[in-house]
Amino acid sequence: MPKLDFLVKDIADLKDSGLYNTIRTLEGANSPWVQIGGRKLLNLSSNNYLGLANHPEMMKAAKDAIDKYGVGAGAVRSIAGTMDLHIKLEEALARFKGREACVVFQSGFLANAGVIPAIIRKEDVIFSDELNHASVIDGCRLTKAPILRYKHNDMADLERIIKENGNYERKYIITDGVFSMDGDIADLKSIAALGERHDCVTMVDDAHGEGVLGKGGRGVVNHLGLGERIDIEVGTLSKAFGCAGGFVAGRREIADWLKQRGRPFLFSNALSPSEAAGCLKAIELLEKSETLVTTLWENSKYFKSAMKEAGFDIGISQTPITPVMLGEANVAHGMSKRLFEDGVFAMAIGYPTVPKGKARIRAMLSAGHAKKDLDYGIERFVKIGREFKVIK
Ligand SMILES: Cc1ncc(COP(=O)(O)O)c(C=O)c1O
Repeated sequence: MPKLDFLVKDIADLKDSGLYNTIRTLEGANSPWVQIGGRKLLNLSSNNYLGLANHPEMMKAAKDAIDKYGVGAGAVRSIAGTMDLHIKLEEALARFKGREACVVFQSGFLANAGVIPAIIRKEDVIFSDELNHASVIDGCRLTKAPILRYKHNDMADLERIIKENGNYERKYIITDGVFSMDGDIADLKSIAALGERHDCVTMVDDAHGEGVLGKGGRGVVNHLGLGERIDIEVGTLSKAFGCAGGFVAGRREIADWLKQRGRPFLFSNALSPSEAAGCLKAIELLEKSETLVTTLWENSKYFKSAMKEAGFDIGISQTPITPVMLGEANVAHGMSKRLFEDGVFAMAIGYPTVPKGKARIRAMLSAGHAKKDLDYGIERFVKIGREFKVIK
């Protein structure tokens, strides 16, 4: 049998079980309306929360950076890839987040895969929310430390596990800030208190909170008024910030240490100059005005209340992530396909990304949507929801 032929069967198995993901190709920018297969569709699938991914000022900043710095950083950060742009971005992010220092990585995934194993040793212990993001899980696995999962956002369960493992010298609680499939917010106030009571370092991955929650989009820690009570904040620059990249913010020693021991920092090429310049511009725009964040929240309130009124179950979301709960995967996939035919791009999500019987269409709102865009989406959801007898 030719090498790797087992993949032929594995792929066929995925297709047979309905788990094969067919990836759509966008024929232009990831804006509120996208072109796919020559057709224009309302985009309810992107993480471009603030519409910055193709904002004219962001594009100009990126183009100017290309003129000055070229298209690539040319090396890993620690050899010759650190440009003044990267340093400016780290200083701006530290200021924006109200933290002592910040280190930028090439993505949010790499920020988690960098910081967690750089700090946590195999003789330590990690308490991790059972619904944490894959990058947090992979970062934890790289440490070789025991990973003890607590029930989702269940503080009694977390405290029980902490107490049962009080013998470890160094203990860490790690949670997503906003859970990406349900849009609920971690009980970070209790986590901060538990961390203080039981001497655990606390870390939040705020990928879906950056640019969305808190004053002017400063994130979940700011939103809950926790300041430095959460020790490590990880964020992404690829969602609300509209570019690419990730970061770790906290006390200066974390940044110093990551520049010595963060493997994606040391062994993977730096963020490109255009991305760094785009991110810097995003911070400038957010520091100048809260309008985009306010519009995002107005849009999500408008969409969510209309969907609720129409009779849809939109789950427990507290953020612009809007899961339209449909139960069985075939309903979610069928509705998503019908929405697509009717001009709405909204992805179905089923097992194993979410538990069996909890399939959904995840509608993502953006400040870039106009009210009439939202009405267009709501109208089609209602029409197709009726077709599928999900609502009356
Ligand atoms: C909770 C969470 N953490 C991290 C990431 C990774 O971010 P990035 O796309 O910047 O790698 C994501 C992206 O899906 C996420 O949802």
